[in-house]
Amino acid sequence: MKKAMIAVAVILGIALVAGPAAAQTAPSKVVLKGSPMGGVNFDHAKHTKLAGGDAKCDTCHHASKPEKPLKSKTQKCQECHTKAVAAPMKTNTRGAFHDAMAKKGLCADCHTKAAAAGTKVPAKCADCHNVKG
Ligand code: HEC
Ligand code: HEC
Ligand code: HEC
Ligand code: HEC
Repeated sequence: MKKAMIAVAVILGIALVAGPAAAQTAPSKVVLKGSPMGGVNFDHAKHTKLAGGDAKCDTCHHASKPEKPLKSKTQKCQECHTKAVAAPMKTNTRGAFHDAMAKKGLCADCHTKAAAAGTKVPAKCADCHNVKG
């Protein structure tokens, strides 16, 4: 009985340590590549604060979906959202981030709101797609 209690305490201890440690592996900056117009410098650290910190990782890292389940909570977008998609996937690389004219979508919707509130956000294609090579 005592042994079982210790085992439970050890497992709980590991779970408590694993939580924050997993969040710490979040990158500070990411360069997202694929578009011939240029890569996108994405300030991940800044955006996690905007999105409300640890509780809101799922603003971008959505929950697993049946068409193609996640291998990890923060699996890279482009491992599933490829340039050309085959059924049952519908959302290609571009669609995962924004629509054809970058007016709507995950990245664009929040920027539109921020711009309306007077915050300077990327507006033109080249404001984001500006990393050459
Ligand atoms: C505004 C959108 C957004 C938010 C909010 C966000 N992330 Fe990310 N995260 C991304 C994008 C985009 C990438 C790059 C994915 C890629 O390379 O395809 C990424 C990458 C990562 C990676 C690296 C994955 C890898 O295998 O290289 C980790 C870890 C991660 N995020 C954790 C987190 C955690 C933890 C939170 C919450 C504290 C969070 N993210 C919040 C958009 C976001
Ligand atoms: C394990 C595969 C996988 C990963 C990794 C993944 N997604 Fe998805 N995503 C899906 C599936 C499956 C759907 C639903 C089918 C579809 O729209 O193609 C989806 C749908 C979407 C949609 C459409 C709207 C919605 O929620 O249904 C957006 C936007 C999106 N993902 C963005 C992202 C972003 C941004 C990342 C990285 C931060 C990401 N996805 C990582 C599999 C994935
Ligand atoms: C929750 C709202 C929100 C989401 C979602 C969001 N952004 Fe932002 N983004 C902002 C705000 C607000 C700023 C201005 C921040 C500042 O300059 O202090 C910004 C600024 C930027 C900038 C300007 C340079 C920088 O990093 O400060 C880039 C590039 C950018 N975002 C890319 C993206 C991409 C790519 C995505 C989708 C993966 C995304 N954003 C999703 C709110 C958001
Ligand atoms: C808020 C930042 C942002 C803005 C503004 C933006 N994009 Fe993007 N776009 C991204 C990110 C991030 C990706 C994913 C990385 C990549 O594919 O380069 C992407 C992907 C794409 C892709 C898919 C490339 C592929 O691999 O298939 C195309 C095409 C694209 N964008 C075109 C545009 C056009 C055209 C505009 C202007 C009308 C624009 N983007 C504006 C962030 C942005």
